[in-house]
Amino acid sequence: MEQVNVALLGFGTVGQGTFELLVKNNELIANRTGIAIKVTKIFVRNIDKYSHITLPEGTHFTNDVAEIFDDASIQVIVEVMGGLTFARECIEKALNAKKSVVTANKDLLAEAGPYLLDLAVKNGVDLRYEASVLGGIPIIRTLYESLGGNKITEVVGILNGTTNFILSNMTEKGAGYAEVLAEAQKLGYAEADPTADVEGLDAARKLAILSSIAFNRRIFFEDVSVEGITKIDATDIAFGKEFGYTIKLLGIAKETKKGLSLNVHPSFISSNHPLASVRGSYNALYVKGNGIDDAMFYGRGAGSLPTGSSVVSDIMEIAKNIHTNNLGQLKPFYYFEKNLYASGKIESSYYIRILVDNSTGVLAKVASKLAEQRISVQAVTQRNENETTSTLAIVTSSCPRSYISNVINAFNNLRVVREVGSVIPIMTD
Ligand code: NAP
Ligand code: HSE
Repeated sequence: MEQVNVALLGFGTVGQGTFELLVKNNELIANRTGIAIKVTKIFVRNIDKYSHITLPEGTHFTNDVAEIFDDASIQVIVEVMGGLTFARECIEKALNAKKSVVTANKDLLAEAGPYLLDLAVKNGVDLRYEASVLGGIPIIRTLYESLGGNKITEVVGILNGTTNFILSNMTEKGAGYAEVLAEAQKLGYAEADPTADVEGLDAARKLAILSSIAFNRRIFFEDVSVEGITKIDATDIAFGKEFGYTIKLLGIAKETKKGLSLNVHPSFISSNHPLASVRGSYNALYVKGNGIDDAMFYGRGAGSLPTGSSVVSDIMEIAKNIHTNNLGQLKPFYYFEKNLYASGKIESSYYIRILVDNSTGVLAKVASKLAEQRISVQAVTQRNENETTSTLAIVTSSCPRSYISNVINAFNNLRVVREVGSVIPIMTD
């Protein structure tokens, strides 16, 4: 049987999950591809750290990356280190050396994916990245192959496992933010620096990668407007429940007549919406297309074996392409001008929480400021904090974000308003 030799760059959560699957499903993978896939070298910084791991015969650790690039028998390089500079150097070097690459590195793809994909085609090899978005859910190939005949108009998703784990636990168990974040780190969901998760950057990177494929444009991380979950308060979660809403960090990309809007932000959704039932580290993506109508893809968005499953599928695709002499066929699919639509113009309902004086006439003053901005109110609830202050939670009808910004300015200048707590969009369709 033909053998394809693979090298792993990195042996952390994803590297080990990939290796475990390749070893334990070895026979099955060989039967499905007709090819024996063998990891021969694993590059890590500090070999001593991995001395407790016994590798099978024919596989060894190295801390000399040149040993991998110089090895002509290695045809596939799997970059699962993360980071930007060194990972990019390695991927470019591999592609220029006519070795195909699999990567899970969404940070790098959201910054330089289109250039790297062009480089792969130029060198007649493959660059695959199924694991970079939604961990174990096979969404990349689904978008460009299975849904290739659709004009996609919208993708909305829970794209980050760590923040979904945090928000679910805060909602369902009343758990504290810091405590759940520490658990997500222990379980291997969070990035090395979890700021990328909680500030929404990781979700924005994934939205950029997905949107590039779904909407055929060169989209980068900086094209996405981002807000994370660090300001979400247990009070908002509780008020949301009263109104029948669940809070989620959503990535939303919509094709409108005026252009493509790309946003990541916390959002309330109806507790009956299918995305509301996506809990813990699970991820999901809702896709609207002019053929399939609506489809939702759901599964584990992070973790060792689920992410390893996507990496392995990419290695198998490459191995088959090597076998059939079909490498370098993933032609760039960026046909259209970027044409972005500013997020401030998107219309939505909003939830606004403010701390106000607990005195007669306050509600009327707040209502008049909303009316001045042509914002109509759908629901309002009040909680008395003490004898002098109350919290008002307001749900507005759909209006442009600019109206909301104006009313927040007006509230900040209103003497009876002590503090504007939160402003959270509500997804209504
Ligand atoms: P990780 O657990 O922190 O492991 C990183 C591995 O890469 C370690 O073995 C580390 O070696 C090695 N490494 C890092 N920088 C290196 C360098 N400059 N030189 C040599 N080795 C280096 O990371 P991970 O969670 O597996 O994530 C890997 C990639 O997959 C990232 O791009 C991440 O965003 C992406 N990803 C992760 C998940 C997930 O669930 N964790 C899901 C999807 C995608 P040392 O131990 O010697 O430092
Ligand atoms: N930190 C990421 C998450 C890993 O929590 O979703 C998977 O990409």
